[in-house]
Amino acid sequence: MNILKQRLDKIISSQFNLTRSIARTVIRRGKVSVNGEIIRDAGMLIEPDKCSIVYGDEELEYKKYIYIIMNKPKGVLSASEDKNRKTVVDLVPENLKRNGLFSVGRLDKDTTGLLLITDDGEFAHNVISPKKMVNKTYIAELDGEVNEEMCLAFAKGVILADGTQCRPAVLKNLGDCKAEITIYEGKYHQIKRMFGTVGLGVNGLHRKSLGGLNLPDDLAEGECRALNNDQLKSVFLEK
Ligand code: URA
Repeated sequence: MNILKQRLDKIISSQFNLTRSIARTVIRRGKVSVNGEIIRDAGMLIEPDKCSIVYGDEELEYKKYIYIIMNKPKGVLSASEDKNRKTVVDLVPENLKRNGLFSVGRLDKDTTGLLLITDDGEFAHNVISPKKMVNKTYIAELDGEVNEEMCLAFAKGVILADGTQCRPAVLKNLGDCKAEITIYEGKYHQIKRMFGTVGLGVNGLHRKSLGGLNLPDDLAEGECRALNNDQLKSVFLEK
């Protein structure tokens, strides 16, 4: 990957999760070296993937963007920041934190499960874009049982109360007032509104997969981890 030249303070700030002004200060104080030489010029232009950059005693392993999978717990907002309420970005641990993180699409405050967090706007756009048809699978806890007629209605594509036409979706009855549903778009409160059209209320919602990427069984609620390249690519594969 060819990464263009960037200012040293920008690199230090994004890769070590420091504000730009702290990054400038540590550089001026001689805490940063490039290819073994202490550099005090915060504006120096360098190619981060071609140099050895050391801050303190830590050598940078340059990653242009970060891709994080989270098992979102209930009660946190899918937003980057909020004055009073906890957001998913607040839950990202220090070792994965960077400036500019945001969630790829949104889950409702009471929804749990797979959520991606990144600083790569183009990737997020591609995941969300209706053109890419990335499928999302949820387990819904309902206030009644799903029947065959509902599965057929979802397969045809339901029309929401406000007249919005949904794409065909796959609905499976799991028994015990639970169902699995796969959708190929992401409208506001889509699943709750879809079940509303067949007279069912949603008591709980959990996202288990996005494209070909499944929520790992060993990722507890509230935990995050960085995705590797294969996991990242799997988002654009069918489940
Ligand atoms: N559909 C909903 O209604 N809520 C979510 O959080 C996700 C999909």
